[in-house]
Amino acid sequence: MEQALSRDPLVVAGTSAAPDLTEDEARARVGRLLARRAAGTGDRWVVVADGLDVGVVGARLEDDGWELGWALLPAGRGRGLAPGAVRQVAETLLAGGAHRVRALVLPGNAASRRVACRAGFVRDGVLDRGGRRLQVWCRAPAARA
Ligand SMILES: CC(C)(COP(=O)(O)OP(=O)(O)OC[C@H]1O[C@@H](n2cnc3c(N)ncnc32)[C@H](O)[C@@H]1OP(=O)(O)O)[C@@H](O)C(=O)NCCC(=O)NCCS
Repeated sequence: MEQALSRDPLVVAGTSAAPDLTEDEARARVGRLLARRAAGTGDRWVVVADGLDVGVVGARLEDDGWELGWALLPAGRGRGLAPGAVRQVAETLLAGGAHRVRALVLPGNAASRRVACRAGFVRDGVLDRGGRRLQVWCRAPAARA
């Protein structure tokens, strides 16, 4: 999954993921993700449709709280899967005590803006990270959509 995502142009354009991972690099990435999960500072869920793994929703604990990211492989797109998957992960984290959950979206990423909105997130300004200006989307426990 990590290798396939790294080889998809839309995922590379829309996320901070390193492009075109070798199998060893992808396995090393999975190792880092598992270490983060063990430390309680990250987690990752696979989106499954018709028995196939078609994407991921990832969560990472930053200084400001939990940040979500998401990506689907081409086989999972255009089926309305992303908003429900993102909503479930956000609600899991909020139910676990997070006071809010954020997502950072590149301004040109219309599909992800729509996903955030449909998952109950609201716009909460912009920030600069890694030389890129990102839209902040926020989901708080009281949000309804
Ligand atoms: C973002 C992503 C998961 C959306 O997947 P998707 O399958 O296209 O999304 P869905 O089918 O669930 O549709 C979600 C909404 O986005 C809309 N949408 C999809 N592509 C769009 C586009 N290019 N422009 C505008 N809206 C778009 C859909 O119409 C739908 O809205 P609606 O329910 O109001 O009609 C997918 O494009 C992807 O993996 N992108 C690369 C990774 C990425 O950018 N991640 C964001 C990190 S924050």
